[in-house]
Amino acid sequence: MADMHYHDYLQLDKILNSQFPESDKQNLSAHDEMLFIIIHQTYELWFKQLHHEVDAVAAIMSKPALNDNSPELQTVVHRLNRCVTILRVLVHQIDIMETMTPMDFLDFRDMLRPASGFQSWQFKQLEAKLGLKFDNRHGKEYYTAQLRKEHVDVIKNSESNSSLLELINSWLERMPLAPSLSDDPDSFWQIYKKSYEGSLADAEKGNIQALEEIFFNIEPQTSPKESADWRTNIKQSLSSAASRAALFIMLYRGYPLLQQPFQLLNCLLEIDEQLSSWRYRHMNMVHRMIGTRIGTGGSSGKDYLKAAADKHYIFREIAQLNSFLIERRKLPALSNEMETRLGFVHQ
Ligand code: HEM
Repeated sequence: MADMHYHDYLQLDKILNSQFPESDKQNLSAHDEMLFIIIHQTYELWFKQLHHEVDAVAAIMSKPALNDNSPELQTVVHRLNRCVTILRVLVHQIDIMETMTPMDFLDFRDMLRPASGFQSWQFKQLEAKLGLKFDNRHGKEYYTAQLRKEHVDVIKNSESNSSLLELINSWLERMPLAPSLSDDPDSFWQIYKKSYEGSLADAEKGNIQALEEIFFNIEPQTSPKESADWRTNIKQSLSSAASRAALFIMLYRGYPLLQQPFQLLNCLLEIDEQLSSWRYRHMNMVHRMIGTRIGTGGSSGKDYLKAAADKHYIFREIAQLNSFLIERRKLPALSNEMETRLGFVHQ
């Protein structure tokens, strides 16, 4: 058997012969079109890697129960951290794109119509795998109209599978360590509620109703308009039991058994933050590049991107749990039995 060669292993024949600037075909000079193609191809390769990581994480999280005595949770955290690092690189790649000036872009921009990054099905599928539902997308009709049917099918298929957000919800619901809910005034969550209430400023008193809705599953007494802002128009993805488990992990993350779960929740927030940074940097670059003109894909350009950036937070509900933290020194003391269960040494 012939020795493996770098060139063949990486299929460089295919990759390096996949750049065909439209301006070359039309015999017009547009130096920066090569950069434009290569940067998009690079993004798509990284999207592919992100899918590889998210699929692997979903496969582990889909198991009926994670084995706490195995490296499973650590593997999940490790791979999600890798996703975060890739996303950081994707944000920074915009620096390279911005070395192209608006006049350089105009040299070939019209040749692309109606192609647009909006048609990146890998990007939309990634959002779906993480947990963005079709109904929560900005500009639904525009979204389906711009993509090829086979790509819409791929994305819809991912939407119909359990998303990472749904898998996290089930995992949190299964968490055996969080104290259960009870009406007993001496129980953990009733003591917590009292402490939280005591920490609120007058203008925040409505938060107690939100706490009851989110963590105690109590139906709102007031209309959504009067209810706290974060509850309006957002369909809950996290159940009350999952929300309690997540809050408990955040509050007592210093205990050995909660360290990895905390890292996992933190990774999700970091993924949202990096995706959001990418959206804002992309949006500002678009504004700088085309001003207020419509995009090559026909959207309102910057306005469309701004609305999508504001709406497409996937792990918003986990981030919002931070509104319900209390000072460490006021945390309810855990029973000896609970402390033992959360530690490394079990007597
Ligand atoms: C000169 C550089 C760029 C310009 C002017 C630009 C412009 C736009 C515009 C105006 C849109 C909205 C849809 C439309 O009407 O076309 C859009 C969407 C999008 N672009 Fe770009 N883009 C650029 C570079 C990139 C790069 C390098 C990527 C990397 C993959 C990218 C990925 C996307 C994605 C994923 C969307 C959909 C976002 C969403 O729906 O939330 N774009 N772009």
